[in-house]
Amino acid sequence: MPAKTFYLETFGCQMNAHDSEKVVGTLMAKGYTQVPTPEEAGLVLYNTCSIRDKAEQKVYHRLQQFKRNGKDKVIGVLGCVAQQEGERIFERAPNVGLVCGSASYNKLGELLVQIEAGDRRVTGLSLDTDEAFDTPFTRRDNPHRAYITIIEGCDKSCAYCVVPFTRGPERSRTSESVMAEARRLAAEGYSEIQLLGQNVNSYRDPTPAGWNFATLLGRVAEISGIRRVRYTTSHPRDFGRDIVDAMDSNPAICDHVHLPVQSGSSDVLARMERLYTRDEYIERIDWLKNARRIYSITTDIIVGFPGETEKDFEATLALLDEVEYDSLFSFKYSPRPNTAALGLEDHIPDEEKQRRLVIVQEKQRAIQIRRNAGLIGSVKEVLVEGRHQALEQWIGRTSDNRTLNFTHPLDGAASLTGKYLPVRVTRSGPNSLVGESVTVV
Ligand code: 5AD
Ligand code: SF4
Repeated sequence: MPAKTFYLETFGCQMNAHDSEKVVGTLMAKGYTQVPTPEEAGLVLYNTCSIRDKAEQKVYHRLQQFKRNGKDKVIGVLGCVAQQEGERIFERAPNVGLVCGSASYNKLGELLVQIEAGDRRVTGLSLDTDEAFDTPFTRRDNPHRAYITIIEGCDKSCAYCVVPFTRGPERSRTSESVMAEARRLAAEGYSEIQLLGQNVNSYRDPTPAGWNFATLLGRVAEISGIRRVRYTTSHPRDFGRDIVDAMDSNPAICDHVHLPVQSGSSDVLARMERLYTRDEYIERIDWLKNARRIYSITTDIIVGFPGETEKDFEATLALLDEVEYDSLFSFKYSPRPNTAALGLEDHIPDEEKQRRLVIVQEKQRAIQIRRNAGLIGSVKEVLVEGRHQALEQWIGRTSDNRTLNFTHPLDGAASLTGKYLPVRVTRSGPNSLVGESVTVV
């Protein structure tokens, strides 16, 4: 393999983005240098996602590109496709030399030594480890906002979902180690922490302290220097009232909850094995709507799950009207390997899934236009994320997770990035807000 250089491209969710930070740190500690293009790299890595077929195909497309011009490189597949497909990847993409799932990143150093020694096909695919949390060399991308993994894997078995197969069973990290990492990050100047897990609500401290998620959330938010705490993702079944209480009593916990519902029909939810009904979901939404602060609520929707009737679909549309989400992610159901839904009958044609997807998205767009317009005139605090040169605006994010770009008298003269500023909303669109900074006297 040529000089110790690597290129890494990341697909998928925030868990993957954070895993990539761990991978970059581990490689740099081994003397590797990151380069911006695959052409320059001796080691080309793809940290992959397999949540839907499209995400998986993207990876194979990348590997295909290297068939001709990647002869002198070692190509590695990391993440969820690696875990799902394992050694089959070597058959499908013979130019791949390394296949490693997320639970084995702490072994990456050893695997690279094997590659350097000339091994052609190296794997790290074990799932029965809880050592993945403490990859000591994490190299974070953002100087103000830091991810912390609090729980790995997932013990639910939603009928459509590949995650339990790619990330294994639930393993919670000790509260002591989470708190130590959060305190260290605060001391290093990070002001926003995002607690990560496939289902953070089912966090359970494995030490005798026995903290649940609400306790951990509250304690992290009390750390001095931490101004914002976010968490993702939640599962409605495990989303307890104590989480809302923790949010209400600690202003550092952001005004936002992502609570994926998937469908508004209790019949579909039962077939998805989501473990809650529409009414039970609405009960949780009511806790949030009747709370002491105003929380923005976002969700995920899957359309076209096997057997979803027109009536089921209308129940989802009615739910959108009832909850009035601040934002949502919507997806066409995509059959995944190993999942229970593969065995269900009545698969829905793609054109029909597409039709339903467009209807959901158009309805939600109208809701967002209305809700965002209602914010004009209000003042919101933003964390400044950077500068949009072309628009001559600063990019801000509100506690309730909206993008609020704004003008400021300093106008690019000095960097505002990383600062917290009050901004008055002057204009709104379906996906973002525009405003001007409020000078505080
Ligand atoms: N097909 C379509 N969407 C899916 N999701 C998870 N699995 C599938 C699948 N097989 C969606 C869910 C989940 C989000 C991360 O991705 O909505 O909440
Ligand atoms: Fe994709 Fe799920 Fe893996 Fe995240 S955990 S990368 S969403 S398959």
